[in-house]
Order: sequence, then C-alpha cells, then structure tokens
Amino acid sequence: MSKIFYITTPIYYVNAEPHLGHTYTTVLADTLARYHALAGESSFFLTGSDEHGEKVLEVAAERQQTPQQVADYYANTFRETWDAVGIRYDRFIRTTDADHQAVVQSVLQAVYDAGHIEFQEYEGLYCVGCERFLTDRDLENGLCTDHERAPEKRAESNYFFKMGRQFSWLTEYIDAHPDFIRPERYRNEVLSMLKEESGLGGDLCISRPKTRLDWGIELPFDENYVCYVWFDALINYLTGIGYPDGDDFTALWAAAEHVVGKDILKPHAIFWPCMLRAIGLDPPRHLNVHGYWNVEGRKISKSLGNMISPLAMKEKFGFEAFRYYLLRDMSFGVDSNFTQDSLILRINADLANNLGNLVSRSLNMVKRFAGGSVPEPGPPGDLEKEIIETANRIVNEVDREMRATRPQRALESIFSLVDATNRYLERREPWKVAKQEGGDESVRTTLYTCCEALRISAVMLSPFLPETAAEILVRIGHPGELDAARLPGSAQWGGIQVGATTEKGEPLFPRIELETTEETKK
Ligand code: MSP
Repeated sequence: MSKIFYITTPIYYVNAEPHLGHTYTTVLADTLARYHALAGESSFFLTGSDEHGEKVLEVAAERQQTPQQVADYYANTFRETWDAVGIRYDRFIRTTDADHQAVVQSVLQAVYDAGHIEFQEYEGLYCVGCERFLTDRDLENGLCTDHERAPEKRAESNYFFKMGRQFSWLTEYIDAHPDFIRPERYRNEVLSMLKEESGLGGDLCISRPKTRLDWGIELPFDENYVCYVWFDALINYLTGIGYPDGDDFTALWAAAEHVVGKDILKPHAIFWPCMLRAIGLDPPRHLNVHGYWNVEGRKISKSLGNMISPLAMKEKFGFEAFRYYLLRDMSFGVDSNFTQDSLILRINADLANNLGNLVSRSLNMVKRFAGGSVPEPGPPGDLEKEIIETANRIVNEVDREMRATRPQRALESIFSLVDATNRYLERREPWKVAKQEGGDESVRTTLYTCCEALRISAVMLSPFLPETAAEILVRIGHPGELDAARLPGSAQWGGIQVGATTEKGEPLFPRIELETTEETKK
C-alpha cells in the first residue's frame, strides 16, 4: 500500500463566488485527503485559483478594476470560504504566484526545445466561457453547450503544441490502465474524444498574442505572446509540490490523483497527459471525474441566482450536515439534483434520527445505568458478536470504497453499523433488563457495545464529518483520540477505555422542519 497520497481540486476561476459545484469538489478532495491521512499515509492536498485568461479581463472591464484586483478579490474569497468551512488544504496555489510563473515558463521552454511546439496560422471558434477552441461536439445550434453562448470566430498566428502525435500512445495507455480515468463512462468518453481529435490533427493552440490579451504568463521564447490559460493552469499540479527539484516531488507525483468535474474532462484527460509526456513525466495515478449538480432541477447559473453558497449553507444547516449531504447524495460520476427538501430529509433521517439518536440514547443510559462512565462488559453473546462482525466488515469496505473514490458507498457502509447498533439496542432493551434481577451484567455489556460501536463509527466518520466525529469521541470520554488514530488499528474492536467518563450533551443534529413553501403546498 502506498504511503503517500497527493490529491488536487481544479483551481477555480476568479470570476465568481464559490458555489455548490466548487464546494462538492473541494469537500470530496478534503475527505479523501483526510481518509488517507487516517489510513497512515502522508497526504498532501492542493487547491487554489486559476487567475489568467479572458474571463478575468471581462470582469475587470465591467468593474473598472485591474485584472490583478479582480484576481486578488476572488482568490481571497475562495481561500477564506474554505477556511471558514474547515477545508484542510496544504497549499492554496494562485497561478499568479511567482514560483508558478517560473515553472510554467520552464515547462514551456522544455516543450519548445524538445520540438513539440510550432508556430502557425489558425482559424477556429473560441468560447471564452470554456477558454478554449470548440469542436462540433461542443456545439448545439451554434452555441457552446456548457455556456449557452455563441463562440467567436478567431484567426491568428499562434504557437501550437503538437499534441496529436501522442494520441496513439495515450490511447494505448488508457486501454492498459483501465482505472486511470474513472468511473468507466468517462474513460469511454475520452477514448471517443481521442478518435475525433485525431481526425482534426490534434494541435493545441497554446499562445495568445499580447495585442489581444496581455493578462497571462509570457512565452519564454516570444515576448509578443502570453501562455494559453489551460496550459498555464494544469501546471499548477506540478508547481504545488515543488517541481522540478522539490524534495518530495517525485514521490508525490507518483501518488497524484485529481478530482475534476465532467466539464473539464478533456483538458485533464487529453491535454494534460500529453503535456506531461512532453516533459518526461507519467500521467497522474487517477483522474476521478464527478458529475454535475443541478439545483431544484435546473442548471446552476448566475442568472437564475441558484448558486448555493457554502457559507449560507453553513449558516442555515451547519457545514457538517451540508457536507454529509453532498458526499452521501451524489453517486460518484453521475449527475445529482440538489433540493432543500432532500437535504433536510437526509439530515433528519441519517444524522438526527440515526446517528444523533444512537449517541443520545446510549449516553443517556450510560448515565442512568452505569454512573456516566463506560462500563465493564461481560462476555459477548450472539447479538454482540454480530455488531463486532459488522464493525470489522465496515473497516475493509470503507477502505475499498474510498480507494475507488465512492464516498457515498463508504458512508452507506459506516451507517450500516450505526443502524445495526440502534437495532441491537431495541433487541437488548437495557431499559427493561435494568429492572430485572441479575440484569446488571447484560446492561453493562449492551452499553459497552454501544459505546464501542460509537467510537468506531466516529473514527470511520472522521474524514467525512470531522467535527461531529471529534464531538462524539469527547462524549464517550475519548477526547484527542483522532490525533493519533490510524486505520485499521484504531477501528479495531476493544479500543474503548472502560471507566472513561461520558457526557450526554445536547442533540448532535436537531431535527429540521421542512419549510412549507407555496410550491410544496400545491
Ligand atoms: N479553472 C478551471 C479548472 C482548471 S484546473 C487546472 C475551471 N474552473 S471553474 O471555476 O469553472 O471550476 C470548475 C470545477 O468546479 C468543475 O470541474 C467542477 O469540479 C466544479 N463545478 C462547477 N460547477 C459544477 C456543478 N454544477 N456541479 C458539480 N461541480 C461543478 O474549470
């Protein structure tokens, strides 16, 4: 098992506030980084902002500001938002950072020197939203399918990365590494894109004349041009870990995984491996591609005002609950629909009724029947053995699902333990047994079993719900347990300390009433 894990989010354009889509990608990467750290790996999590390109100039012109002012404003907004909601990144990279500009220039020079770049005339349809030239498959009724805006016809002399030369190698690589691009549907999509692009020659325009765009990184071999924004942006994944000669660069790169939305599959699955190959680096280990969130059945858009701000969600529902919903309700790779009702139903069912209820019932009874400390158990009976087996099973299941980037399944697995423990309590009925003569040992065993199942659930939930997990551990008398927790050892049955002082506390997740809107009344 690899002892290093390197995970990235896309770096976000600095032309909009963080919304639901950015939040999902970032929360997922954060959860994966935390999981791998829990599994004892040294994990590095990179996120940041993509600051060059025409979009920023458009916003700057609208606001009568400089592009740098716009970039500073949004880069800070993203960083502050992630800080406010507890995202634990290792570096927030900005493409205007000096080290990044230097790395981009050195990569450009190396690719140029190796003969992969040529100067030529080009005419094509450019979408500023995508910041790239479009092909027929990107268009519907003459409009870009992602941005619903008409691309501009552009003809100019530019530098081209001769990417098409590498398509046969890349196709073979994708065939030989079936889990490089996952889930599978996106691998198939990339293979068909590669076929189509081959027919078009596979040249990638990587420059913009300064006469048209001077907000970018200058080409080291022609001062009249700046670098195309995607070529610049993708390289952040190298700069962020100290390319070319940082101490850990080689080890981290060998463990690299990207999380991206399906909208940016092509740059990551085609441009990027070809660029890496041109400088002698392997593709990242995995490209994890997720689907799109819609909101109440509609595409997220500024004009509809349905962006869903992570800070507003934190304010209204608590960020942990929102984070849980995102990870649990999207099936990785497939589109999902955000609705406030489904969020509330999910919080109530899983967090309030299932997990929260188990915590309060168990600790209530520990207080009433065991003096408020984890009791000494008797030997486990059949029902206890079932819980122990479930606890052992979920540790393996979660590991498998997290390594395949299926957080929704990992959560389902953890909640199967929470659920089983609630049912176990119903069957053991310690509140009745406590009144019976000689029922003492059975009650102690039941309550011990609940506390230990809670401890293991909390350890396993910690990458997903870090604050809630820490709080559960405090309540069962194990504060600080997460500091040194490592899987699988920390989730082994029997780790709880008999005699630890427990604390009932307030409900972890109060039930939320569904808001009856005019819509839902109909
Ligand atoms: N700057 C580029 C990425 C460069 S990476 C080298 C970019 N930025 S972006 O601000 O548009 O963010 C794109 C990412 O945000 C998507 O890939 C996806 O991860 C996330 N999402 C944006 N809208 C989304 C949804 N509606 N649903 C889910 N995620 C989406 O592209």
